[in-house]
Amino acid sequence: MGKLIYLDNGATSYPKPEEVYTYMDHFYRSFGVNPGRSGYDLCLEAAATVDDTRKRLTSLFHGTDPNHLCFSYNSTDALNLIMFGMLRPGDHAISTTIEHNSVLRPLYHLSRDGVAVDYVPFDGAGFVDPDEIRKRFRPNTRLVIVNHASNVIGTVQPVREIGRYCREAGIYFAIDASQSAGKVPIDVEEQFLDAVAFTGHKSLLGPTGIGGLYVREGVEIRQTRAGGTGVRSAERAHLEEYPFRLEYGTPNVCGIAGLHAGLKWIEARGMGAIHEQEMVLARLLRDGLAGIPGVILYCQENLANHIAVLAFNVQGMDAGDVGTMMDVDYDIACRTGLHCAPLVHEQLGTAKIRGSVRFGIGPFNTEAHIAVAVEAVREIASLAKR
Ligand SMILES: Cc1ncc(COP(=O)(O)O)c(C=O)c1O
Repeated sequence: MGKLIYLDNGATSYPKPEEVYTYMDHFYRSFGVNPGRSGYDLCLEAAATVDDTRKRLTSLFHGTDPNHLCFSYNSTDALNLIMFGMLRPGDHAISTTIEHNSVLRPLYHLSRDGVAVDYVPFDGAGFVDPDEIRKRFRPNTRLVIVNHASNVIGTVQPVREIGRYCREAGIYFAIDASQSAGKVPIDVEEQFLDAVAFTGHKSLLGPTGIGGLYVREGVEIRQTRAGGTGVRSAERAHLEEYPFRLEYGTPNVCGIAGLHAGLKWIEARGMGAIHEQEMVLARLLRDGLAGIPGVILYCQENLANHIAVLAFNVQGMDAGDVGTMMDVDYDIACRTGLHCAPLVHEQLGTAKIRGSVRFGIGPFNTEAHIAVAVEAVREIASLAKR
């Protein structure tokens, strides 16, 4: 990997485990055909990998039926399937100000077509109060959709409490698990989740271009796309049953194979152990940055209910300039700007200074990386005019 220090794991995990690269290469050369379309051996092998990946993801989310695990191209795709498939003009939806544009923009488009939407703000520590969500329930509220773990400030929302309120009120509850899947426990039964949208290329350690959603049994998501499924081709309408209901066209088999290898890597080490190791580094990073004069941290001292993502600014400096110096002078990759979450920055007051600098820690980061990053920020901050 050279001497680059990669701290942009919130955008995508990099590098991937070696097993992901080798399995994708092996799979695509050996079985890279269209699964579920024919009965020859290669096709059956490809389908077996797709099915086994469905099973592993279903068990990661504590689901009951692997056929309710539908593949999509990323979480944006999955979130669009959920929102456009659940909401109709005249419905009301509740979301939060901690959302990514993958939720905000579909909701904005739906609101232009007659869906009313409320956005609940997060509190000073970065958490959404479930009671604030419940207060906004209306007779026509159909969906509550919440970002499980923030891609800007790293806080993990109390989804079980929100889910319980929704279930009691008969309202669908969906989470955007883009940052949390593979890091934080997700349990569709215990957390009262009706739909979970995930992406394969972040904490699940797979490649880009693969994601999906788990839909709880009994939950109806209307089809908003239709096409070939390889099954019962004489039928005029797209199939009703999951997973075909929300899958259309040839799947990203090579992506599924990479995700399969990423999942096996996580299972072998234990999701909890990986998360704990990252949080040890997050603690070092947070405390290191907190000790630098002129650094404004958007992260509480208490790192409970947190993932290893945190944001900061250097007083008197543009976040983009800090990122450029990190890259050019220190060979550290990080993300700057609004991180596709404009309402977070509006609420933090950072929108007008064009966002913040974000570090995202991954399983291949080390204490040495964190030490270099903290010293880099210290040197950069010492140059700021305050
Ligand atoms: C919270 C959150 N939601 C949604 C997304 C979108 O993920 P993807 O680009 O894989 O669809 C991201 C990725 O940055 C994210 O962090």
